[in-house]
Amino acid sequence: MWQLVKEDVTCVFERDPAARNILDVLTCYSGVHAILFHRVNHWLWQRGLRWPARFMGNIARWLTGIEIHPGACIGRRFFVDHGTGVVIGETAEIGNDVTLYQGVTLGGRTLSAGKRHPTLGNNVVVGAGAKILGPFLVADDARIGSNAVVLEAVPAGATVVGVPGRIVRCKNQSAKCLELVQDQEAAIRQQAFDAYGVAGDTDDPLESAVEQLQIQVAQLRAELDRLGKRTG
Ligand SMILES: CC(C)(COP(=O)(O)OP(=O)(O)OC[C@H]1O[C@@H](n2cnc3c(N)ncnc32)[C@H](O)[C@@H]1OP(=O)(O)O)[C@@H](O)C(=O)NCCC(=O)NCCS
Repeated sequence: MWQLVKEDVTCVFERDPAARNILDVLTCYSGVHAILFHRVNHWLWQRGLRWPARFMGNIARWLTGIEIHPGACIGRRFFVDHGTGVVIGETAEIGNDVTLYQGVTLGGRTLSAGKRHPTLGNNVVVGAGAKILGPFLVADDARIGSNAVVLEAVPAGATVVGVPGRIVRCKNQSAKCLELVQDQEAAIRQQAFDAYGVAGDTDDPLESAVEQLQIQVAQLRAELDRLGKRTG
């Protein structure tokens, strides 16, 4: 445990150029306070002390603005920079050397119990405000751009940006990553240009109007026939 805590503190120097010395890191980094609380809370949670773990988690949230469920499994050298607004759900799993910035959510999209939060591999970086929602894998070395909303698995080494998230880079040129980029590009090409703003699957407005008129004429004829029979 001591070694784990030491690594959580010292890794800050590698990831934030603003960190000047150990006093700075221990006293001014809410992300460090949050992970130190979490190490204890997770230990309590694993031993069945559920309420104390949750209560301490809530105290940590008051103090740091970072909400980490005590059930979340977090690897070594975890760093949350700035921190405010970070939320990490109960079934989230996080590998080693992961960095999150402020406003990140590792959340779920279902109310059913069981695995519902994402799994982050090793060395993943998640930019400020990004939301990763659902029980899928964001594989090793992936980078998630600030404010991205990620709803699907991310292959190793990919950089994902936007809403919904799309891959813009494949760091290790893996076949899986490149294949996904090709699929995305094909989808974009398919919906690239609709002449005069009319897409192929859209009805011609003139044709629709004529169809409506035909229906109304048929209804009027039927009504006339009915009236004719009644008077005749
Ligand atoms: C996603 C990120 C890691 C990409 O970095 P990169 O590999 O250097 O990539 P680039 O800057 O060359 O951008 C690649 C493309 O994605 C776009 N892009 C980059 N970041 C984006 C974002 N957050 N949202 C939307 N598009 C983004 C770029 O405009 C570029 O598009 P183009 O190819 O059409 O020109 C980085 O932009 C980012 O968002 N990092 C998070 C930083 C952060 O949260 N800092 C908080 C500090 S307090």
